[in-house]
Amino acid sequence: MTGAPTEGAPPEGGASSRLRCSDPGCGTWLGRAEGVYSCPRCGQLAELVLEMDPEAARTWPARWRERVPGRDAAGRSGVWRFSELLPPTPPRVTPVTLGEGGTPLVELPQLAEELQLGSLAVKHLGVNPTGSFKDLGMTVCVTEARALGREVVACASTGNTSASMAAYAARAGLRALVLVPEGQVSAAKLAQALDFGAMVVQAGDTFDRAFTILRQLAARLNLYLVNSINPFRLEGQKTAVVELLEQLDWRPPDFLILPGGNLGNVSALGKGIGELAEAGLLAELPRLGVVQAEGASPFHRMWSSGAEELVPEDHPETRATAIRIGKPANWPRALRALSRTRGVTAAVSDSEIEMAKRRLAELGVGCEPASAASLAGLRRLRRTGEVPEGARVVLVLTGHQLKDTAYVEEHLAGRPGIRRAEPSLEGVERSLRGWL
Ligand SMILES: Cc1ncc(COP(=O)(O)O)c(C=O)c1O
Repeated sequence: MTGAPTEGAPPEGGASSRLRCSDPGCGTWLGRAEGVYSCPRCGQLAELVLEMDPEAARTWPARWRERVPGRDAAGRSGVWRFSELLPPTPPRVTPVTLGEGGTPLVELPQLAEELQLGSLAVKHLGVNPTGSFKDLGMTVCVTEARALGREVVACASTGNTSASMAAYAARAGLRALVLVPEGQVSAAKLAQALDFGAMVVQAGDTFDRAFTILRQLAARLNLYLVNSINPFRLEGQKTAVVELLEQLDWRPPDFLILPGGNLGNVSALGKGIGELAEAGLLAELPRLGVVQAEGASPFHRMWSSGAEELVPEDHPETRATAIRIGKPANWPRALRALSRTRGVTAAVSDSEIEMAKRRLAELGVGCEPASAASLAGLRRLRRTGEVPEGARVVLVLTGHQLKDTAYVEEHLAGRPGIRRAEPSLEGVERSLRGWL
């Protein structure tokens, strides 16, 4: 299959897209068929640039509404439903999908009142086939691997990328190689990758180290990398903001706040916001908020100090292992996304993350620790006034509650735990004394 054309025609009225260096000062056009991640001239990451007809773009929301999620073929995936905004695939390549997207937006009025906000909701991307937002990007990225005729996909991962890649690779009949930091990935996420048949190698004690090794290995062994340096990942992930705006009847929130690690997701959402604005579908841009864990917050430090270069954190530390990243590969485009949307950042402690996770759970919303950083960050930003009273806010929850059950066991203090009882009516009743 290698050598066959990788591009197809966009759907009627849809955007066409071409690969280009993401650095505005360079802008070198790149060949999609070569499967590159970065610009050979300046080394910056590659990205897909859309060319759209704004008049045709006005008709997109009506078309998307017609593709009912879960019913007709195009709507069965909540990502491919937005095909007008995605890189077209050749007709011989069918999307590798597991029915991703179509995730809930849950209003939290009690918390909005507590924080004196106009409204507050969570967009729960943990409700995806493998339990994280990574699936939104992986469906597009693994489809591209198939179009390129690649046989082995690979990633370095704090856990969720590996689970997602392994699932989509299995679906596509490709082999999957995962590099993870030793002892730093939740058992549940590793179990997912193993269950889907991936080869898992533990290397080093940080994501950054594993990622550096993998980039060298990929060049040597011709592996197709599916980390967020892969431009096709961002294309799928950007659909989260399209779906969110559709759920909000195209009335954007004032702030859209998410946790940041390698900063692929904020880059993707920023790209989606920019394209919707260009399509004339957004009157105002939501302001992006990135929240990092204090022990792994190089981007927050850069943004809040006004520095122009990111200084990596050599020893990132946080119990929210999904965002334990000290050298985010996507920082230049995250910087552009925040500049374009007048963004904000925050760094939060592990205990603030724990309290936020607990508060969400009290309201019936489960998520993994890294996701709860969104709420912890919002609390900080309310205290500093960067998010003002009355603002309309959406928090992005990135991963499912079952991704890290060990965390819940570690932090049970003050919650009803598991009690033992004699196996009789009286015995169980006795065990409930003091609770009922
Ligand atoms: C649950 C969760 N939240 C947030 C992130 C950070 O996303 P990004 O690396 O795109 O900044 C990750 C990354 O692995 C994650 O798994």
